Amino acid sequence: MTASVSYTVTGQIGNIVIDSPPVNALSRAVRQGIIECLKVAEADDTEVVVLRCEGRTFIAGADITEFGKPPQAPALATVLEALESHPKPVVAVIHGTALGGGLELALCCDYRLAAATAKVGLPEVNLGLLPGAGGTQRLPRLTGLKMAIDMITSGRPLSAGDAQAAGIVDEVSDDDLQQAALDFAGELLSRGAGKRLTRDIPFQLNDDDTALLSGARDTIAKRLKGQTAPQRILDCLSAAGTVPFEDGLKVERQAFEACMADPQSSALRHQFFAERAAAKIQGMTPDTEAQAVKHVGIIGAGTMGGGIAMCFAQAGFQVTLVDQDQEGIDRGLGTIRKNYDISVQRGRLSSDQVTGYLANLEATADWQALKGADLIIEAVFENLELKQQVFQRLDEICDARTILASNTSYQSIDALAAVTNRPERVVGMHFFSPANVMRLLEVVRGGASDDTTLTTAMAVGKQIGKVCVLSGMCYGFIGNRMLRHYGREAALCVMEGASPAQVDQAMEQWGMAMGPMAVGDLAGLDIGYRAREQLSDEEKGPRINYLLVDRLVEAGRLGQKSGAGYYRYDPETRARQEDPVVADIIEATRAELGITARELTAEEIVDRLTLALANEGARILEEGIAQRASDIDVVYCHGYGFPRFRGGPMHAAEARGLSSVVDRITQFRQTLNPDNWALAPLLERLASNGGSLKDAS
Ligand SMILES: NC(=O)c1ccc[n+]([C@@H]2O[C@H](COP(=O)([O-])OP(=O)(O)OC[C@H]3O[C@@H](n4cnc5c(N)ncnc54)[C@H](O)[C@@H]3O)[C@@H](O)[C@H]2O)c1
Repeated sequence: MTASVSYTVTGQIGNIVIDSPPVNALSRAVRQGIIECLKVAEADDTEVVVLRCEGRTFIAGADITEFGKPPQAPALATVLEALESHPKPVVAVIHGTALGGGLELALCCDYRLAAATAKVGLPEVNLGLLPGAGGTQRLPRLTGLKMAIDMITSGRPLSAGDAQAAGIVDEVSDDDLQQAALDFAGELLSRGAGKRLTRDIPFQLNDDDTALLSGARDTIAKRLKGQTAPQRILDCLSAAGTVPFEDGLKVERQAFEACMADPQSSALRHQFFAERAAAKIQGMTPDTEAQAVKHVGIIGAGTMGGGIAMCFAQAGFQVTLVDQDQEGIDRGLGTIRKNYDISVQRGRLSSDQVTGYLANLEATADWQALKGADLIIEAVFENLELKQQVFQRLDEICDARTILASNTSYQSIDALAAVTNRPERVVGMHFFSPANVMRLLEVVRGGASDDTTLTTAMAVGKQIGKVCVLSGMCYGFIGNRMLRHYGREAALCVMEGASPAQVDQAMEQWGMAMGPMAVGDLAGLDIGYRAREQLSDEEKGPRINYLLVDRLVEAGRLGQKSGAGYYRYDPETRARQEDPVVADIIEATRAELGITARELTAEEIVDRLTLALANEGARILEEGIAQRASDIDVVYCHGYGFPRFRGGPMHAAEARGLSSVVDRITQFRQTLNPDNWALAPLLERLASNGGSLKDAS
């Protein structure tokens, strides 16, 4: 009927087939095509209609490129109405993923058949939205309230088998799906089965449901603090069981529009596009292809090397993990095994899976085992000379085409490349701790790294499930370079008068996964202390920035590992508690530096920490260290616990308005230490000419 949707007849069965690559999204052409086909099917002498998709999936959702643009007729609601009011029963035949609007459309069909490999879900919450085409009203009628709450507030899809058990699909087929669809339709015909609308299923909240809803409100308020969409979803589910269906749809529509207009949704949609954009390397020679990587070597079986080895082993790579001696290997392997044991105990992995992963992993002290590796990632101690020795040795042992990567946090990739005969094949691959959990991977471009090397590092990162961001070379790369400014402001807020708990609460309330002081305790306060021991007084910077940490470490408070840092930790539960001893140490440190404490508001704390990030981020962008502002946002949301619903530090600055950002930074420069608040020239320029960070990329 249209290029995207066709209609054919097989006996008494009408077949509507959607073919709109890549994912059969509900674009205007698809919506129009379905309506036209339904009209034809209404007039012919078929008795049942089957709706299915070509290509790799059933309708995977709304056409996200239409978001924020004026709506184009026909609306999805019109398509759904046409399905429900159609005189003949309609069967949705689902393969691949029926997500969002795709599942909502399937819920408006009378019957649903799914391939065993299919998945169904309503992931709108991930974009700060809710299913706006009846999903919140129809799903609970099929599944009951509990499953609907779980599915819609988490956004997690269900497998076909689980969807059948939940009442979402009628039948699951392992066989040829087209044939199964014809058989299913034939069966309906022989039974004389008619229309069967989801909206007609009675659904009334009982006392248990009401208790369930209020419990969910509390849990979600704690777990997804500050997020509006999940709470609005609960409003809609509550309406589904308390008001007539049509009124429920109105509640849902209003809630959907409120989400659309909410800055949280623009932030989450920004992150969605930012993650995709980050994978693209600007200025690549066209047709650059990633080198095949099957065998990965990892040097150093410590905290990072072990985690990195797990990532690769789990993704099916052949992994050779090397440490300096048997003791290092045993310790590294022991930690890996312990991590896997915990995952098995918690039911996240089966013991068969773990056996499979460990079979991919060889740990050895024999460097010759690295000979045939396609990629080697170095993760030894953070010491340039040691790393250079490792790179020299690898350069001698490995094939000329082997890519040599370093997981260094601070060393120069160029200084490592310089000791090899293959500088073009040297690159940074900076993972975050714990490496098997954190999704961020900064791929660091050395001065000589060639296109194939960069493309390979990004491709391999994707294969192990990481979100990759390209960073240019500078001290700390994108993330840690910015973090120094954030950490400095956190320390200064405490020195000026806030308590550590006040700083953490302000940031956590605002949405950070963990406040900066608690993060310091988790990472270990002694790390910075030991690093500072290597520096001259000048390199250390002003004492006010670090004196408190030094005093804590000197008092044996190294953080969680010693049971106390900024906080005291319960040995059993690890819960943090404020500690009067720390208040005394802070008081004494302030006195030593001649500081009189003052009151700080949560607003000042949040502004100082987040604007310190945005200001340094703008410099990083202007220097070309980051390819785009949105890459910086990806780094912060995936590597540093920055709330996705605020989009990242650059998006948050843009959403606030760059003039307001510049005004506030100027105010800080005038009232705080001016050396810390030199305005990034890019911010000043964009604020004065009304430009946007988005276009500054
Ligand atoms: N820990 C983090 O949070 C983190 C995060 C990102 C990057 N990094 C970087 O990762 C690297 C490793 O850090 P880590 O925390 O895993 O350190 P770690 O001390 O836990 O592990 C280092 C390992 O390297 C081994 N090793 C040392 N010299 C070796 C040699 N010559 N040959 C083979 N093995 C050798 C050690 O035996 C040890 O097992 C550092 O460059 C660090 O900056 C660390």
